[in-house]
Amino acid sequence: MYTVLKHAHMLFAATSGVLFILRGVWMMMDSVQLQKRWVKILPHINDTLLLGCAVALTVMLHQYPFVDHWLTAKLIALVLYVVVGTVAIKRGKTKKIRILAFVLALLLYGYIVGVAINHSVLSFLA
Ligand code: HEM
Repeated sequence: MYTVLKHAHMLFAATSGVLFILRGVWMMMDSVQLQKRWVKILPHINDTLLLGCAVALTVMLHQYPFVDHWLTAKLIALVLYVVVGTVAIKRGKTKKIRILAFVLALLLYGYIVGVAINHSVLSFLA
């Protein structure tokens, strides 16, 4: 069961990254695709499932955010990824700000993957 949940979590994590890159490219191209209903809704459904699996995994592992540092780092970085991500796709006032936010969100995503793999706040530097 744990392995199934972990692979589901990884699949949703990868999908989250792919959908974000796709929306970032459309943002840079000023594409009307960004206004499509499914483009607005699907990432939220996917991220909810990603988080749902994450919660189940933490319970099964008996490791929790604000107890185990690597999970605290993951949760904080996830919140930042979501906030900076909305600046990149929607809220950024100029294109320069949106592109900068897009790059920052990708770096945060990479940091999260490194934390997940190494179970360390130092991410890929561990
Ligand atoms: C964008 C957000 C996230 C990404 C990209 C992501 C990515 C990953 C990846 C790639 C793994 C597999 C690591 C490996 O074993 O090689 C993983 C595992 C895991 N993640 Fe996430 N994750 C995210 C959010 C979260 C959050 C918010 C939590 C909980 C606070 C969480 C909790 C876990 C747990 C408990 C595991 C299992 C670790 C293990 O069995 O070794 N993840 N995550």
